[in-house]
Amino acid sequence: MSVSLEGKTILITGASSGIGESTARACVTAGMRCVINARREDKLKTLSKELGSACSIVVGDVTNEGFNQHLLDEAGSLYAVFANAGHGLNQSMIDCNMDQCKELFELNVFSAIELASLAAKQMVEQKQGHIIFCASCLSKFTTPQHGVYAASKSAIEAMAKSMRMELKKDNVFVSTVHPIGTHTEFFDVSAIRSGKEKSTFSSQSPAWLMQPPEKVAGAVVGCLRRPKPEVWTSLLMRLISTVFSAFPRLLNAII
Ligand SMILES: NC(=O)c1ccc[n+]([C@@H]2O[C@H](COP(=O)([O-])OP(=O)(O)OC[C@H]3O[C@@H](n4cnc5c(N)ncnc54)[C@H](OP(=O)(O)O)[C@@H]3O)[C@@H](O)[C@H]2O)c1
Repeated sequence: MSVSLEGKTILITGASSGIGESTARACVTAGMRCVINARREDKLKTLSKELGSACSIVVGDVTNEGFNQHLLDEAGSLYAVFANAGHGLNQSMIDCNMDQCKELFELNVFSAIELASLAAKQMVEQKQGHIIFCASCLSKFTTPQHGVYAASKSAIEAMAKSMRMELKKDNVFVSTVHPIGTHTEFFDVSAIRSGKEKSTFSSQSPAWLMQPPEKVAGAVVGCLRRPKPEVWTSLLMRLISTVFSAFPRLLNAII
């Protein structure tokens, strides 16, 4: 099955940098209209200027009470939502700071689910739509220091799975994206949130573990055209995560 994207509108949260920004570019190139959101107005304005009349902006924090409804009201009629805004945290479980854990879940999980369920109501009436959540390869397994982040991505994956089954009869697709390490602001933002100055993750990781955000953006557009449950940009990581799920002792031994 192939969906024509020409003239359809997508709302993308977290579009002031990284994966969201690249996805907005890729969607406009594919003929879509984009409503982009994030907190940094200057960055959104620059991107919107580059993308021209196909792009409009709604500035604000998706974790603020009532903001997701405001975002949808401003966006108008939508074909798709990419719930992408998110951040990480590098913290061992024994030292985890509950306020930071709650903040992370507010953004990565609760706000994304609220936005998706509000948008789904409109899509069910339209009898068409596509909701895409930005999960992670870490929704399938975890590594030291990333337990809380991985838990948030596992949670979003589980909720997306239920939503997918619930909305199938209404012709609304639900997908999750599972990027590997992606060169964005993500690692520095996570490091700063965790009380460190800068992250060395991207510079020290092997090349096969890292990718440019454009790769994820291309895969998201591919999924909009040909809807599928899960979007992976690394077959190797998909296989590794499956092996880790089947053999948990292997994960301990290797990591
Ligand atoms: N980079 C990776 O290696 C990687 C791997 C797997 C999954 N992911 C996931 O990919 C998604 C995008 O991350 P990224 O890598 O592109 O990192 P990024 O460059 O840091 O982008 C995060 C985006 O979220 C926005 N944002 C943060 N808090 C927000 C809030 N409260 N309200 C609205 N927008 C907010 C940020 O913009 P403002 O600061 O302007 O609000 C920014 O546009 C995240 O869900 C992340 O978990 C990333």
